[in-house]
Amino acid sequence: MTDPTIQVSSLRKSFAHGSGRTDVLCSLDLEVDAGEIIAIKGRSGSGKTSLLNILGGLDRDFRGTVRVASHDLDTMVDRALSLFRNEVIGFVFQSFHLIDSMTCSENVALPAAYSRRRGHSITPRNVEKVLERVGLSGLGEEETRTMSGGQKQRAAIGRAILLGPRVLLCDEPTGNLDVETGAQILKLFQDLNASEGMTVVLVTHEDRVARIAGRVLNLEGGVLV
Ligand SMILES: Nc1ncnc2c1ncn2[C@@H]1O[C@H](COP(=O)(O)OP(=O)(O)OP(=O)(O)O)[C@@H](O)[C@H]1O
Ligand SMILES: [Mg+2]
Repeated sequence: MTDPTIQVSSLRKSFAHGSGRTDVLCSLDLEVDAGEIIAIKGRSGSGKTSLLNILGGLDRDFRGTVRVASHDLDTMVDRALSLFRNEVIGFVFQSFHLIDSMTCSENVALPAAYSRRRGHSITPRNVEKVLERVGLSGLGEEETRTMSGGQKQRAAIGRAILLGPRVLLCDEPTGNLDVETGAQILKLFQDLNASEGMTVVLVTHEDRVARIAGRVLNLEGGVLV
């Protein structure tokens, strides 16, 4: 048996709020096996983005143990954490976080600039293939600021999958897409999962997204049920 790709135990997260702190995640446990697709639902403010930020190594201000793809995030030093974010994780943000002054291709190619694995150097053709995969063929030279919400979402997904991450973390990945484009993106997640064995965590409010998941968990009262 291989270890689960994601192993979270007794995770606690709180935010400073006025003179005290508000607990968001309260002794949360989670295990996700390699090659699983899971969906996480929960009302607005229940802590879904907070959890994803921790799993993606973006927030290390937490208590408990968090192990992702054999990396212990609770004890990792900054440089190792940067490499982890760059090479192990693909992260699709709820609000995209694209750089508006760059073109679509430049945004998608950005992780390659930070990768230490120069050997697998990403070529313009690689970027074009990713653009094709997310349905942005021919739009590489488009200025990001003039792209539609759905196009930005697809560019954000392209950037997340460029380096072939082992784990893809997606925060409302189809929230800005019409039904047809959303279906294409869900199909893409299923393909990446089937062909590359990518483990996928989808935060979502939508039933159609949850339907592609092998398991659906609800974040309620700071724990997953
Ligand atoms: N940087 C922060 N500082 C203080 N409180 C925060 C911060 N980020 C999130 N919170 C609080 O933590 C709680 C959980 O927020 P989070 O963004 O994780 O929820 P969510 O489930 O992703 O919601 P949504 O579905 O609206 O995206 C909320 O009460 C929010 O106000
Ligand atoms: Mg959120």
